[in-house]
Amino acid sequence: ALSALTARDLAGRTIMVTAGPTREEIDPVRYISNHSSGKMGYAIARAAARRGARVILVSGPVNIPAPPGVELVAVSSAEEMRRAVMGRVGKCDAVIKAAAVADYRPLERTASKVKKKAGELTLHLTRNADILAELGSLEKHPFLVGFAAETDNLEAYAAGKLKEKNLDMIVANDVSQSDAGFNVETNRALLLFRDGRRLECPLMSKEELANVILDQLCAGMGNGAL
Ligand code: CTP
Ligand code: CA
Repeated sequence: ALSALTARDLAGRTIMVTAGPTREEIDPVRYISNHSSGKMGYAIARAAARRGARVILVSGPVNIPAPPGVELVAVSSAEEMRRAVMGRVGKCDAVIKAAAVADYRPLERTASKVKKKAGELTLHLTRNADILAELGSLEKHPFLVGFAAETDNLEAYAAGKLKEKNLDMIVANDVSQSDAGFNVETNRALLLFRDGRRLECPLMSKEELANVILDQLCAGMGNGAL
């Protein structure tokens, strides 16, 4: 049998992957962001391209070069990511949302640098749109894979997100552990599926986990003939 690394089992498929953090600007010199390195999303994009998919990688600011053969769409804010994703979803068979999208942005971005004053500074934040939930509410949506980064109650929170966002699959990560999640080379995940199935993935490289996720996506999309 062909190994998962060499099989062209995604040939003919278009897969969008989102990766990295988003940046929400406060003023011309400052922003709010998070610790996402983009490594998991880039590993998925690279693996999907190797397996023959056309890959659209919508990425927040990261320090990783675009994998060969992948169409990179560079974005910064959550709203830019939303527009990039919603404008391209129509041609996709699957969307894998590995990005750590900021939930809030400053209510106002000031045109000039905020100057320090005596005492406290209050920053007003407003909610960003949930891109994945928007994808899940589309009448005709592609195969949807979400991620859940949790520090506690991993399975319950992830199962909630799977259902609420109408996903086919969710990759749940315990980010409270130093060998998994943000900015490390390895990951440990729990995969949950629409039909209630669950698959525990032990600690492995992000590349290996990417291929496990794509194996499941392939099976879920009903990729029998390829
Ligand atoms: N997500 C998204 N758009 C947002 C926020 C999250 O598309 N504005 C996606 C992420 O890319 C991820 C999934 O939703 O695939 C779950 O993100 P996560 O931050 O774990 O969950 P939230 O629903 O934002 O809930 P919370 O942060 O409160 O746990
Ligand atoms: Ca969030």
